[in-house]
Amino acid sequence: MSNFTVLNHPLIQHKLTMIRNKNVGTKDFREVANEIAELMVYEITRDLPLKDVEVETPMGKSIQKTLAGKKLAVVPILRAGLGMVDGVLRLIPAAKVGHVGMYRDEKTLKPHEYFVKMPSDIDKRILFVVDPMLATGGSANMAIEALKKRGAKSIRLVVLVAAPEGVKEVQEKNPDVDIYAAALDERLNDNGYIVPGLGDAGDRLFGTK
Ligand code: URA
Repeated sequence: MSNFTVLNHPLIQHKLTMIRNKNVGTKDFREVANEIAELMVYEITRDLPLKDVEVETPMGKSIQKTLAGKKLAVVPILRAGLGMVDGVLRLIPAAKVGHVGMYRDEKTLKPHEYFVKMPSDIDKRILFVVDPMLATGGSANMAIEALKKRGAKSIRLVVLVAAPEGVKEVQEKNPDVDIYAAALDERLNDNGYIVPGLGDAGDRLFGTK
């Protein structure tokens, strides 16, 4: 079973509460969602391997630590996942960015993949799959499958708000994928929205209805 971790740093909780407020507009929602993503990635990258390097300071040579060159990529699930990419890139500016697009079939309500574009060495990278809301888990699982089909070996799912139903679904179908959330909310409502949640993350990020 994969790990599910709520990253409940006080700054993360504070900022998430800000964007739950329905009166927060597009500009602030977008800014703060990226700030939360940035703080989350800071926590999630604690285990990145380091190696020794020699560095010459004004005082002389010494051996210090540097990242051991583990390659990373951030993969937003379109469209709402785009709202977390800038925050991740602020901390990991050299990360590649892949994209996974899903649409929901109106009849079956099942997600389908319509666009996948990934770095060629996907099998050598840690992939941070980002999507603000983990609701039913349907699109997260579909995106994860799309990446695994193309060779992905190391995937971390990073969401702002998770519903228990979505966490269970991803853990069952993709037990090798660790899940990180800023909050675990109560439940899904009959329309598949997370309660209390923050509404439709895509619409709030992009100012659509
Ligand atoms: N997607 C959203 O944007 N919000 C939800 O609450 C659930 C799914």
